[in-house]
Amino acid sequence: MDKYDKIVELAKRRGFIWPAAELYGGVRGFIDFGPLGAALKRNIEEKWRRWFILRHQDFIVEIETPVVMPARVFEASGHLEHFTDFIVECTKCHRKFRADHLIVEQTEIRDVESLSIEELNSIIKEKNVKCPECSGELGLVQTFNLLFKTTIGPYSESIGYARPEAAQGMFLAFKRVYEVMRNKLPLGIAQLGRVLRNEISPRQGPIRLREFTIMELELFFDPEDPKCPLFDDFRDEPLNLLPVKDITSGLKEPRQLTAGEAVEQGLILNEWIAYFMVLGRDFAKSLGIPEDCQMFIEKLPQERAHYSAQTYDQVVKLERWGWVEIAGYSHRTDYDLKRHMEYSGVDLRVFKPFSQPIITEKFVVKPNMRVIGKTLRGDAKKIISVLQSMSSDEIISELNGRGFIEILGFKLNRDCFIITKEKFEVKGRRFIPQVIEPSFGADRIVYATLEYAFSEKNGRIVLRLPKDVAPIQVCVFPLVNKDGLPELAFQVYERLRNSGLRVEYDDSGSIGRRYVRADEIGVPIAVTVDYQSLNDNTVTLRDRDTWRQVRVGIKDIDVLIKSYIEGRVKFHELGPLV
Ligand code: ATP
Ligand code: GLY
Repeated sequence: MDKYDKIVELAKRRGFIWPAAELYGGVRGFIDFGPLGAALKRNIEEKWRRWFILRHQDFIVEIETPVVMPARVFEASGHLEHFTDFIVECTKCHRKFRADHLIVEQTEIRDVESLSIEELNSIIKEKNVKCPECSGELGLVQTFNLLFKTTIGPYSESIGYARPEAAQGMFLAFKRVYEVMRNKLPLGIAQLGRVLRNEISPRQGPIRLREFTIMELELFFDPEDPKCPLFDDFRDEPLNLLPVKDITSGLKEPRQLTAGEAVEQGLILNEWIAYFMVLGRDFAKSLGIPEDCQMFIEKLPQERAHYSAQTYDQVVKLERWGWVEIAGYSHRTDYDLKRHMEYSGVDLRVFKPFSQPIITEKFVVKPNMRVIGKTLRGDAKKIISVLQSMSSDEIISELNGRGFIEILGFKLNRDCFIITKEKFEVKGRRFIPQVIEPSFGADRIVYATLEYAFSEKNGRIVLRLPKDVAPIQVCVFPLVNKDGLPELAFQVYERLRNSGLRVEYDDSGSIGRRYVRADEIGVPIAVTVDYQSLNDNTVTLRDRDTWRQVRVGIKDIDVLIKSYIEGRVKFHELGPLV
């Protein structure tokens, strides 16, 4: 049994995670979060909110938009055309697989993301890649769109799709949020919610799901002002970086350099990307994933999503699966807003006033009606209407180039126009903002957190979950289930519960078994009420990670435990060791 199997076993037995629809045999790519798993996930999501939204609440806001959207949205976003994977079917058992995944599993080839259909087909043939289930011959590789399709209302022609990312809802809402936030950039819009991707053959438990939670942030900025005002404090932060430049030179190990150096050397295109990468590194670290088990790998141009000018994947080392992406950081340029502008016809540009209006001079061209009317007579009206759809600059450049403009077969020379120089007051600029996006997968992060917390001590499991995300922060136990101990223990439980801590009371079985269970579900601290407690109103606190115990008074136990959970005091500072 490797760590993955042990975690899966623990997750089922203790109620963190199990396969969804188990009664009907389950369906791959869907999981249930049980009471502890749902609490852990919620705590990680809340932490993400604090980490990325609340600390920037002056310019980053959270919204919530629908999961299902009309087809037009995904036509515009490019997902209908580009959100595809390569699929291959076994000619014998007719099971379907992701072609690139089979190649990684059955050959020594690792760089598969950028391979074309032809390349995949020839590798499958040359390397004799077979069906992993029945060893049958594989058919030809095809593309498969991962969007989940549905219909909206009782109209079969009204096609909708479930979102594969939360981002599109935020692009659609951009104009409104920009106005609500008083027309200022930079502006961040964040969203945390379910997304669906019809993954071809998910076989990695919570790592590859068909429905999962994404935690996504779109940071809109003025392309003429791309600097991140918060970056100065992060300039010297080290990052483990594997940029495209190194990958194409055959390197596999990341180099360590500071965020500032990475931007200065052009390895990271924009300060905002580097800023969020440092935050993301620390976020994962705060969940127990050490820095040396994380790195940022840049996607090769041919691997990048259709909207991206640069993407770094934040990957963490997992025992069974190797380096697994937990977050992607993309420079989405103005791609999405531009596309939605084109498809919806709504102007999504923002207006930025200059501090002082600028006076400019411009040539203005008007048709000389007298000349045009005289020479063209009956056709003049049609010609004028075509001319009105042309800009002054266009007309001047034609006249300068060819000496005339040809419309409906008529040649109009310079005499047909009156050209004057006029002064204009320009009050500001109109432009489409650019976007930087950090995007985190909550379910993978939950799994990675579980894996890094998982440890074994004296043949027992201890889940060393970070104290702030542990589903249960403190357990309260009476030493034995008699002599007034349960009553006092329950009072302690109520006091802790009322102080806002996540607490559990347990008086079943031996105290030893209760400690075992508390360790297995990652409860950082256990309070035990014993006979001494009845005399002097003290209890013992047991540390999950060291199994050491201290004795403290019941009087201010809630304040003490909170200061420990929040990391303000160390365990041994809570009271005398027993
Ligand atoms: P992968 O290459 O692993 O398929 P991706 O590049 O498609 O991932 P993104 O589109 O960048 O992933 O999605 C953002 C985040 O969502 C990822 O970093 C990952 O944490 C998570 N994620 C993506 N696909 C899945 C999935 N099928 N199941 C669970 N989480 C996922
Ligand atoms: N929004 C990130 C992605 O779906 O790729």
